[in-house]
Amino acid sequence: MYSLQGLEEYCIRCNKCPLHKTRTNVVFGDGDPNSMIMFIGEGPGYNEDKQGKPFVGAAGQLFDKMLKAIEFKREEVYIANIVKCRPPNNRNPLAEEVRSCIDYLRWQVKLVNPKIIVCLGAVSAQNIINKDFKITKDRGIWVKKGNFYIMPTFHPAALLRDESKKRPAWEDFKNIKVKYEELIS
Ligand code: URA
Repeated sequence: MYSLQGLEEYCIRCNKCPLHKTRTNVVFGDGDPNSMIMFIGEGPGYNEDKQGKPFVGAAGQLFDKMLKAIEFKREEVYIANIVKCRPPNNRNPLAEEVRSCIDYLRWQVKLVNPKIIVCLGAVSAQNIINKDFKITKDRGIWVKKGNFYIMPTFHPAALLRDESKKRPAWEDFKNIKVKYEELIS
């Protein structure tokens, strides 16, 4: 079994799908490798690709604020994406790109071994919970899978596009904190 660092080195050399041709950096993940909570987004955008870190653009700034509001520091949680290389023009990752990449995320989840997984947005929820997941209808409800408590919520970029999603997302974040406190006590 790889260490997280070994897995990252492996990913940096990956050329399993065409996204490797257009990437600047592989965006492996960030945060506390022993965190009890892991946030999983969709895929790197422009800024993430340039900096090699997840959630550092506009959506990332909102995400940081939401973390802060529930009294988490970014360094205390672990953050990754469904795909580790930027899809051109920020389109959704294609099924074959996800298929090429998802085993890396599976290993990463095994190595971090969180108790809580937060799916940020539909692409994340559809690849982690079920392929027909409807984020608007089914977000905010805990899903238990194996040892994981999974919370699907809106992607922070969706909150930037549609203010009306902010309140339900805030409710989800408060629930995430409650579950976290419950699980550490
Ligand atoms: N959106 C994502 O889904 N992931 C990132 O890392 C940045 C933006």
